[in-house]
Amino acid sequence: MAAPSFPLWTARVLTLFPDMFPGSLGQSLSGKALKNGIWGLETVDIRDFARDKHRSVDDAPFGGGAGLVMRPDVLTDAIEATVRRSLPDGTQVGDMPCLYLSPRGRLLTQARVRELAKAQCVTFVCGRYEGVDERALESSGVEEVSIGDYVLSGGEPAATVIIDSVVRLLLGVVGDPATLDEESFEEGLLEYPQYTRPREWRDREVPEVLLSGHHDRIKAWRRQQAERITEQRRPDLWSDYASGKNKGSAD
Ligand code: ADE
Repeated sequence: MAAPSFPLWTARVLTLFPDMFPGSLGQSLSGKALKNGIWGLETVDIRDFARDKHRSVDDAPFGGGAGLVMRPDVLTDAIEATVRRSLPDGTQVGDMPCLYLSPRGRLLTQARVRELAKAQCVTFVCGRYEGVDERALESSGVEEVSIGDYVLSGGEPAATVIIDSVVRLLLGVVGDPATLDEESFEEGLLEYPQYTRPREWRDREVPEVLLSGHHDRIKAWRRQQAERITEQRRPDLWSDYASGKNKGSAD
Protein backbone atom coordinates (compact mmCIF):
# COMPACT_ATOMS: atom_id res chain seq x y z
CA MET A 1 0.00 0.00 0.00
CA ALA A 2 1.27 3.51 -0.80
CA ALA A 3 2.15 5.60 2.24
CA PRO A 4 -0.73 7.92 3.24
CA SER A 5 0.08 11.66 3.05
CA PHE A 6 -0.79 11.97 6.75
CA PRO A 7 -0.78 9.28 9.42
CA LEU A 8 -4.12 7.51 9.96
CA TRP A 9 -3.57 7.84 13.69
CA THR A 10 -1.16 9.80 15.88
CA ALA A 11 0.04 9.09 19.42
CA ARG A 12 1.27 12.09 21.38
CA VAL A 13 3.18 11.16 24.50
CA LEU A 14 3.93 13.61 27.30
CA THR A 15 6.78 12.21 29.33
CA LEU A 16 9.90 13.04 31.31
CA PHE A 17 11.66 10.28 29.36
CA PRO A 18 11.11 10.91 25.63
CA ASP A 19 13.98 8.53 24.81
CA MET A 20 11.76 5.64 25.93
CA PHE A 21 9.87 6.08 22.62
CA PRO A 22 9.38 4.52 20.15
CA GLY A 23 11.21 1.74 22.08
CA SER A 24 9.64 -1.60 21.18
CA LEU A 25 7.10 0.20 18.97
CA GLY A 26 9.95 0.97 16.55
CA GLN A 27 10.40 -2.77 15.85
CA SER A 28 8.47 -5.38 13.89
CA LEU A 29 5.20 -4.47 12.15
CA SER A 30 4.50 -1.35 14.23
CA GLY A 31 8.01 -0.05 13.50
CA LYS A 32 7.57 -0.61 9.78
CA ALA A 33 4.19 1.13 9.83
CA LEU A 34 5.70 4.04 11.78
CA LYS A 35 8.46 4.42 9.17
CA ASN A 36 5.86 4.20 6.38
CA GLY A 37 3.81 6.99 7.95
CA ILE A 38 0.73 4.84 8.62
CA TRP A 39 0.76 6.05 12.21
CA GLY A 40 2.63 8.93 13.80
CA LEU A 41 4.41 9.41 17.12
CA GLU A 42 5.17 12.75 18.77
CA THR A 43 6.85 13.02 22.15
CA VAL A 44 6.65 16.08 24.37
CA ASP A 45 9.24 16.51 27.13
CA ILE A 46 7.31 17.68 30.21
CA ARG A 47 10.53 19.15 31.59
CA ASP A 48 10.51 21.74 28.79
CA PHE A 49 7.61 23.36 30.67
CA ALA A 50 9.49 23.75 33.96
CA ARG A 51 9.56 27.31 35.28
CA ASP A 52 12.86 27.52 37.13
CA LYS A 53 16.49 27.33 36.16
CA HIS A 54 16.80 23.85 37.72
CA ARG A 55 14.01 22.65 35.41
CA SER A 56 12.22 21.04 38.37
CA VAL A 57 8.95 19.27 37.73
CA ASP A 58 8.15 17.78 41.12
CA ASP A 59 8.04 18.56 44.83
CA ALA A 60 7.38 16.97 48.23
CA PRO A 61 3.77 15.92 48.92
CA PHE A 62 1.72 18.13 51.23
CA GLY A 63 0.77 16.08 54.31
CA GLY A 64 4.08 14.21 54.16
CA GLY A 65 4.89 10.79 52.76
CA ALA A 66 7.52 9.19 50.59
CA GLY A 67 8.57 10.37 47.13
CA LEU A 68 7.83 13.41 45.04
CA VAL A 69 4.69 14.60 43.28
CA MET A 70 4.56 16.20 39.84
CA ARG A 71 3.66 19.89 40.04
CA PRO A 72 0.23 20.91 38.67
CA ASP A 73 1.46 24.08 36.92
CA VAL A 74 4.21 22.37 34.92
CA LEU A 75 2.09 19.39 33.89
CA THR A 76 -0.95 21.47 32.97
CA ASP A 77 1.15 23.84 30.84
CA ALA A 78 2.54 20.81 29.01
CA ILE A 79 -0.94 19.31 28.44
CA GLU A 80 -2.52 22.59 27.33
CA ALA A 81 0.30 23.46 24.95
CA THR A 82 0.08 19.97 23.43
CA VAL A 83 -3.69 20.03 23.02
CA ARG A 84 -3.47 23.47 21.35
CA ARG A 85 -0.98 22.23 18.75
CA SER A 86 -2.69 21.04 15.59
CA LEU A 87 -1.85 17.88 13.68
CA PRO A 88 0.29 18.10 10.50
CA ASP A 89 -2.90 18.27 8.37
CA GLY A 90 -4.17 21.25 10.38
CA THR A 91 -6.74 19.31 12.49
CA GLN A 92 -7.19 20.51 16.08
CA VAL A 93 -6.83 17.77 18.71
CA GLY A 94 -8.95 19.52 21.38
CA ASP A 95 -11.79 16.97 21.46
CA MET A 96 -9.67 13.88 21.08
CA PRO A 97 -8.92 11.45 23.93
CA CYS A 98 -6.32 12.52 26.46
CA LEU A 99 -5.33 9.65 28.79
CA TYR A 100 -3.42 9.77 32.04
CA LEU A 101 -1.85 6.38 32.72
CA SER A 102 -2.37 5.30 36.30
CA PRO A 103 -3.11 2.11 38.27
CA ARG A 104 -6.03 4.11 39.72
CA GLY A 105 -7.66 4.51 36.30
CA ARG A 106 -10.50 2.64 34.64
CA LEU A 107 -9.27 -0.72 33.35
CA LEU A 108 -8.47 -0.77 29.61
CA THR A 109 -10.63 -3.09 27.51
CA GLN A 110 -10.48 -4.18 23.88
CA ALA A 111 -13.69 -2.18 23.32
CA ARG A 112 -11.94 1.01 24.51
CA VAL A 113 -8.93 0.17 22.32
CA ARG A 114 -11.27 -0.02 19.31
CA GLU A 115 -12.67 3.42 20.17
CA LEU A 116 -9.17 4.90 20.58
CA ALA A 117 -8.26 3.56 17.13
CA LYS A 118 -11.13 5.60 15.63
CA ALA A 119 -9.76 8.91 17.02
CA GLN A 120 -7.31 10.72 14.77
CA CYS A 121 -4.98 11.46 17.68
CA VAL A 122 -4.67 10.19 21.26
CA THR A 123 -2.59 12.01 23.88
CA PHE A 124 -0.89 9.96 26.60
CA VAL A 125 0.22 11.70 29.79
CA CYS A 126 2.87 9.69 31.63
CA GLY A 127 3.40 10.48 35.29
CA ARG A 128 6.42 9.56 37.37
CA TYR A 129 7.38 9.40 40.99
CA GLU A 130 4.55 9.06 43.48
CA GLY A 131 1.97 10.56 41.15
CA VAL A 132 0.83 13.98 40.05
CA ASP A 133 -0.98 16.78 41.83
CA GLU A 134 -4.70 15.93 41.74
CA ARG A 135 -5.62 19.44 40.60
CA ALA A 136 -3.75 18.96 37.32
CA LEU A 137 -5.91 15.91 36.57
CA GLU A 138 -9.13 17.71 37.49
CA SER A 139 -8.45 20.91 35.59
CA SER A 140 -7.23 19.27 32.40
CA GLY A 141 -10.07 16.72 32.39
CA VAL A 142 -7.82 13.80 31.44
CA GLU A 143 -9.23 10.28 31.47
CA GLU A 144 -7.38 8.01 33.93
CA VAL A 145 -6.66 4.61 32.42
CA SER A 146 -5.02 1.52 33.92
CA ILE A 147 -3.65 -1.44 32.00
CA GLY A 148 -4.00 -3.83 34.95
CA ASP A 149 -4.07 -4.28 38.70
CA TYR A 150 -0.35 -3.94 39.33
CA VAL A 151 1.95 -0.94 39.70
CA LEU A 152 4.50 0.10 37.08
CA SER A 153 7.25 2.61 37.80
CA GLY A 154 5.70 5.09 35.39
CA GLY A 155 3.12 5.53 32.67
CA GLU A 156 5.51 4.98 29.74
CA PRO A 157 5.28 1.16 29.54
CA ALA A 158 1.49 1.46 29.87
CA ALA A 159 1.36 4.01 27.02
CA THR A 160 3.50 1.64 24.92
CA VAL A 161 1.04 -1.20 25.58
CA ILE A 162 -1.98 0.89 24.58
CA ILE A 163 -0.31 2.29 21.45
CA ASP A 164 0.67 -1.24 20.43
CA SER A 165 -2.92 -2.47 20.86
CA VAL A 166 -4.25 0.40 18.69
CA VAL A 167 -1.57 0.16 15.99
CA ARG A 168 -2.23 -3.52 15.39
CA LEU A 169 -5.89 -2.67 14.74
CA LEU A 170 -4.79 -0.03 12.19
CA LEU A 171 -2.57 -2.62 10.55
CA GLY A 172 -5.60 -4.94 10.37
CA VAL A 173 -7.43 -2.14 8.56
CA VAL A 174 -4.66 -1.55 6.02
CA GLY A 175 -3.66 -5.23 5.84
CA ASP A 176 -5.87 -8.27 6.28
CA PRO A 177 -8.84 -7.46 8.56
CA ALA A 178 -9.74 -11.17 8.78
CA THR A 179 -6.76 -11.71 11.08
CA LEU A 180 -8.48 -9.57 13.71
CA ASP A 181 -11.87 -11.28 13.60
CA GLU A 182 -11.19 -14.42 15.56
CA GLU A 183 -8.82 -13.23 18.25
CA SER A 184 -9.22 -12.96 22.00
CA PHE A 185 -11.93 -10.58 23.24
CA GLU A 186 -13.45 -9.84 19.84
CA GLU A 187 -16.48 -11.88 20.88
CA GLY A 188 -15.94 -11.66 24.63
CA LEU A 189 -14.03 -14.97 24.62
CA LEU A 190 -10.35 -15.85 24.96
CA GLU A 191 -8.74 -17.36 21.90
CA TYR A 192 -8.91 -21.07 21.05
CA PRO A 193 -5.64 -23.09 20.91
CA GLN A 194 -3.60 -23.09 17.69
CA TYR A 195 -1.40 -25.85 16.22
CA THR A 196 1.09 -26.18 13.38
CA ARG A 197 3.55 -28.80 12.08
CA PRO A 198 4.77 -31.31 13.15
CA ARG A 199 1.53 -33.26 13.53
CA GLU A 200 3.01 -35.26 16.38
CA TRP A 201 5.50 -33.76 18.82
CA ARG A 202 6.73 -35.17 22.16
CA ASP A 203 3.91 -37.73 22.07
CA ARG A 204 1.32 -34.99 21.63
CA GLU A 205 -0.91 -35.02 18.59
CA VAL A 206 -2.71 -32.19 16.87
CA PRO A 207 -6.47 -32.57 17.52
CA GLU A 208 -7.92 -34.76 14.77
CA VAL A 209 -10.70 -32.35 13.87
CA LEU A 210 -8.19 -29.73 12.68
CA LEU A 211 -6.87 -32.19 10.10
CA SER A 212 -10.34 -33.10 8.87
CA GLY A 213 -10.73 -30.22 6.39
CA HIS A 214 -14.33 -29.97 7.65
CA HIS A 215 -14.81 -26.22 8.16
CA ASP A 216 -18.05 -26.34 10.13
CA ARG A 217 -16.68 -28.94 12.54
CA ILE A 218 -13.45 -26.96 12.96
CA LYS A 219 -15.39 -23.79 13.67
CA ALA A 220 -17.58 -25.54 16.24
CA TRP A 221 -14.55 -27.13 17.92
CA ARG A 222 -12.74 -23.78 18.14
CA ARG A 223 -15.79 -22.09 19.63
CA GLN A 224 -16.15 -24.87 22.21
CA GLN A 225 -12.45 -24.60 23.14
CA ALA A 226 -12.66 -20.79 23.43
CA GLU A 227 -15.68 -21.21 25.73
CA ARG A 228 -13.91 -23.86 27.85
CA ILE A 229 -10.76 -21.73 28.29
CA THR A 230 -12.73 -18.57 29.08
CA GLU A 231 -14.91 -20.36 31.65
CA GLN A 232 -11.85 -21.87 33.35
CA ARG A 233 -9.61 -18.82 33.36
CA ARG A 234 -11.82 -15.75 33.35
CA PRO A 235 -15.09 -16.13 35.26
CA ASP A 236 -15.68 -12.37 34.84
CA LEU A 237 -15.64 -12.58 31.03
CA TRP A 238 -17.52 -15.87 31.11
CA SER A 239 -20.47 -14.51 33.06
CA ASP A 240 -20.81 -11.55 30.65
CA TYR A 241 -20.59 -13.87 27.66
CA ALA A 242 -23.00 -16.42 29.13
CA SER A 243 -25.61 -13.76 29.97
CA GLY A 244 -25.28 -12.32 26.43
CA LYS A 245 -25.80 -15.81 25.00
CA ASN A 246 -28.90 -16.39 27.15
CA LYS A 247 -30.32 -13.08 26.02
CA GLY A 248 -29.67 -14.04 22.38
CA SER A 249 -31.46 -17.38 22.72
CA ALA A 250 -34.44 -15.82 24.53
CA ASP A 251 -35.11 -13.40 21.64
N1 ADE B 1 1.30 3.52 35.88
C1 ADE B 1 1.74 2.77 36.88
N2 ADE B 1 1.08 1.61 36.94
C2 ADE B 1 0.16 1.64 35.93
C3 ADE B 1 -0.82 0.74 35.48
N3 ADE B 1 -1.04 -0.43 36.07
N4 ADE B 1 -1.57 1.10 34.43
C4 ADE B 1 -1.38 2.29 33.83
N5 ADE B 1 -0.47 3.18 34.22
C5 ADE B 1 0.31 2.86 35.26
